[in-house]
Amino acid sequence: MSRIKNLDLILDKLASAKKVAMLTGAGVSAESGIKTFRDPDGLWAKFNPAELASADGFMSNQQLVWDWYQERRSIISECKPNAGHYAIAEMETMFEDFALITQNVDRLHQTAGSKNIYELHGNIVDNHCFDCDEPYLDDINPHDNKMPPCKKCGGRIRPSVVWFGEMLPEYDLTQGINAAEECDVFFSVGTSAEVYPASNLPIIAADSGAFVIEINPTATVISPRMHKVIRMTSAQALPIIVEELRKRTGK
Ligand code: OAD
Ligand code: ZN
Repeated sequence: MSRIKNLDLILDKLASAKKVAMLTGAGVSAESGIKTFRDPDGLWAKFNPAELASADGFMSNQQLVWDWYQERRSIISECKPNAGHYAIAEMETMFEDFALITQNVDRLHQTAGSKNIYELHGNIVDNHCFDCDEPYLDDINPHDNKMPPCKKCGGRIRPSVVWFGEMLPEYDLTQGINAAEECDVFFSVGTSAEVYPASNLPIIAADSGAFVIEINPTATVISPRMHKVIRMTSAQALPIIVEELRKRTGK
């Protein structure tokens, strides 16, 4: 049998749920070999977010920021989805309505087959012009550190991630909030829930009456608001939940 305590309660809630929503963070990609931000060996233990993930940082040293994103791109391009990503994609097919709201920029959810995804922090694959917003559509070789100029205005090309101090994509955020308000079950997986407004989605879900579950090996600031916490990694816990739910529902 599984090692998830009170799994029956979770399966009961899921078996009767019509709408399920899930927020994911960097922890979901940790088992694919991509570092998280706030764990002891995370990116923000070594690098300064103000320097590398803000418009001011980019304006003061474009090449430094570009090189850092190129290095992350080259790491991410070698990484594959893990069992957690695949279980999430499978879970989507088991519900009438399943919304995946992610803070991750690595696109591994898409590679694993998830479809209904809202990307709150953009993605690291696309680029656009810092000066005029024009999308830059040419492929960028992650091993080439020469910054290409914008084809429209000659301006500075940047990765299409959301930096600190920037607005989140309005459509994705609105859809994420709607999903949190309307779902029957909400999962918060692999996120420290330290960054607003993503961090507020589990709270919105709890306040709106959803059964809220956290999957994270470590406690977070939102753990006390959860109905259930699973102290396992996402690649351990999610495949068990999906497999047991299949047995339960026969779907
Ligand atoms: P964090 O690095 O803040 O949190 C990662 C969480 O994942 C922690 O709570 C870990 O305990 C947990 N974790 C680690 N390994 C795990 C595993 N194998 N399975 C499940 N959980 C695991 O990352 P986020 O919450 O995603 O934004 O950070 C939010 C935002 O802060 C990011 O999108 C990024 C960052 O600054 C921007 O760059 C704008
Ligand atoms: Zn431009």
